[in-house]
Amino acid sequence: MVEKTFLMIKPDAVQRNLIGEIVTRFERKGFKLVAAKLMTISEPLAKQHYAEHEGKPFFNNLVSFITSGPVFAMVWQGENIIESSRKMIGKTNPQEAEAGTIRGDHGIVTHRNIIHGSDSTESADREINLYFSKEEIQNYEKNVDYWLS
Ligand code: PPS
Repeated sequence: MVEKTFLMIKPDAVQRNLIGEIVTRFERKGFKLVAAKLMTISEPLAKQHYAEHEGKPFFNNLVSFITSGPVFAMVWQGENIIESSRKMIGKTNPQEAEAGTIRGDHGIVTHRNIIHGSDSTESADREINLYFSKEEIQNYEKNVDYWLS
């Protein structure tokens, strides 16, 4: 089933020049980028995004981290992309994430874990709508052969 998911390169990875590396992984996998923007998240938006974690010990740190600098927010499309992108991202704690995953290869600590990815169709829909308007999401076909000749 072709799905859309919300992926967000967090402030630590933007600062560490990892945008290109991470985007390349999803392009090489065969997924299609349909929306993207560099933006700074406001505190209300951060609290809305992570509302289900309000009250947990890490909530305030998470909100201050995610609002601390620009993030690269994206919508990607592809077959079974929600589950597949979560596998590519790896476990929440980068020290437990397998080598070969984004967090396993580039992260060290949970509170700076590089990237967020939606974990279900419901959260993907909710998060896409939080960050992007309908007009910002592109609907297009790719034809590599055409652009090579
Ligand atoms: S839970 O309680 O198991 O549902 O939480 P979890 O799914 O592991 O994490 C929810 C999001 O909070 C982030 N997180 C943290 N941020 C900062 N500091 C600490 N200690 C911390 N622990 C968890 C975690 O990365 C999840 O955010 P996203 O953006 O979804 O990765």
